[in-house]
Amino acid sequence: MSVKMIIGAVVGIIAIGLISGAQAVEEFQISYSCTDCHPDRYEEWGRSIHALAVSDPVFEAAYMRALKSDPKYREYCLGCHSPITKVTKDFNLTKSISVEGVTCSFCHSVTGVEGNDYALNTGNLMVGPYTDSMTDAHTSIYSQMLTTSEFCSGCHELSINGVPVFETYSEWKEGPYSAEGKQCQDCHMEAKRGVAAKNGTLREKVYQHFWYGSHSGQFLAKAFRIESNIQQTGSRVKVTLNITNNNVGHKIPSGIPSRKVILDFKATDENGKSLFSAQKVYTKTLVDQYGDEVYDFWKAASVASDNRIKPRENRIEVFEFEIQDGINKLETHATLTYQNEAEIITRSVESMSAEIASNGTTTWFNQTAAPGNTAPKESPALGGIGSVVALIAIYLVRKKNG
Ligand code: HEC
Ligand code: HEC
Ligand code: HEC
Ligand code: HEC
Ligand code: HEC
Repeated sequence: MSVKMIIGAVVGIIAIGLISGAQAVEEFQISYSCTDCHPDRYEEWGRSIHALAVSDPVFEAAYMRALKSDPKYREYCLGCHSPITKVTKDFNLTKSISVEGVTCSFCHSVTGVEGNDYALNTGNLMVGPYTDSMTDAHTSIYSQMLTTSEFCSGCHELSINGVPVFETYSEWKEGPYSAEGKQCQDCHMEAKRGVAAKNGTLREKVYQHFWYGSHSGQFLAKAFRIESNIQQTGSRVKVTLNITNNNVGHKIPSGIPSRKVILDFKATDENGKSLFSAQKVYTKTLVDQYGDEVYDFWKAASVASDNRIKPRENRIEVFEFEIQDGINKLETHATLTYQNEAEIITRSVESMSAEIASNGTTTWFNQTAAPGNTAPKESPALGGIGSVVALIAIYLVRKKNG
């Protein structure tokens, strides 16, 4: 079964749950009520991580741990993972709309944002990007703010006890994309030509609702460019790697600090024998008051280190080593792997890991033996992520069934 089909099945189950459990929630309307007129948006959103924000097993496990350490986190965590609860006060998630995570009618009620607080205009009116839309189905209100990164900032920027846990918005704001006017929406909701509603007029730009991020292999594959340069002086070899954050509007990795990018570098001779190897980890590390690393960010006392790669930054890494006489061929191989350590249940740590960029070179020292010369090759390998997404999806199907 393909990943897409599994996810489709999950959405199907959620949707059936909604129809049978449909109940009147005055302030907000369930997403299923939009599907007749906005089928594309509904389908995209249903496959997005926003729709899974309270039912994703990684969140659920963390949420349980947070509640165990202090019940006050109930309201706090749900404030972003099921934001309508701020208004409905359904903190036990008894209503079907509460388990829709970041749902349609939440985002389309937002009229303002300040820090982590959103101002909402609830009821049968939809805040949207158009000044000229017309429908009998609901009142439409125009908001320019909805089309900018400021809209996303209320959730995608988080400090707790004075510790900056993630600052995706600030990283964007301080980087080149903000100056160029490229918003979160431009990358994460890529616009295309189409209709905003069934039988609506054709518009030059409608924004897709997939919000691909680190859960999508293809999206991650756009993140880095990696190049290598090899210099040899006598028996000494110097390899310079140039790693560029190519296409990411914020630091990479951003978001929850359990995310890491790992650089593996290897050099081998003509027989595949290792001549040198090294590893480097790019991440933000949170520590508790004893200086021990913590993934449960609400227990963090400070940021111990942060060496993540900024938007458009070129990070230079240099590796030097000696080679012995008689070696004809030097092969180098550098790979970048995206890794997310996540505790799903207290005892097992699920590690999602996928190679996202690589670069290799071959250098012949004995020129007569050489078929060519230095030949760089790039080969992104993306199998890993797909299978992790599939695993999570299977887990969800099981949970919803049982
Ligand atoms: C995380 C917040 C968020 C959620 C959840 C969300 N939207 Fe949107 N939606 C947006 C933003 C932001 C835009 C405007 C993008 C722009 O114009 O820059 C938008 C635009 C739209 C538009 C205008 C046409 C278009 O696609 O640009 C429609 C219609 C729409 N959304 C419907 C929905 C429906 C239906 C759902 C649920 C099935 C939904 N939205 C869920 C944020 C959200
Ligand atoms: C009976 C059909 C119908 C239903 C149901 C419906 N809409 Fe709409 N909606 C429309 C039409 C038609 C437009 C106008 C499209 C255009 O102008 O291109 C629209 C426009 C919008 C816009 C853009 C408003 C603007 O001025 O920028 C948003 C956002 C939106 N709808 C969200 C929703 C959400 C969320 C739901 C479900 C809670 C929903 N709609 C339910 C028909 C509907
Ligand atoms: C109400 C809070 C809220 C708003 C508003 C919101 N998000 Fe999110 N977003 C979340 C949460 C919570 C998650 C994580 C869900 C999970 O994994 O459990 C998330 C996940 C994501 C992801 C997936 C990250 C990954 O690791 O794959 C992307 C991309 C994203 N959001 C982009 C956006 C953009 C762009 C906007 C603005 C248009 C936005 N979000 C608005 C709360 C929000
Ligand atoms: C220039 C394009 C671009 C812009 C602008 C952009 N992003 Fe991203 N974002 C990406 C790419 C590509 C990835 C996947 C690589 C990665 O995981 O860092 C990503 C990943 C993410 C993730 C997953 C966490 C991570 O880094 O692994 C989140 C959350 C996110 N973006 C949110 C946002 C928000 C919120 C904004 C606006 C403040 C934004 N992005 C602006 C391209 C962009
Ligand atoms: C200010 C809004 C906000 C609050 C409050 C918040 N989160 Fe989140 N959370 C997010 C966003 C946005 C993301 C997505 C960032 C990313 O992709 O790394 C996220 C992602 C996560 C993830 C990673 C999910 C995954 O699939 O990898 C976990 C786990 C999580 N949050 C747990 C919690 C817990 C537990 C609490 C309460 C102690 C909490 N969050 C409070 C906004 C919030």
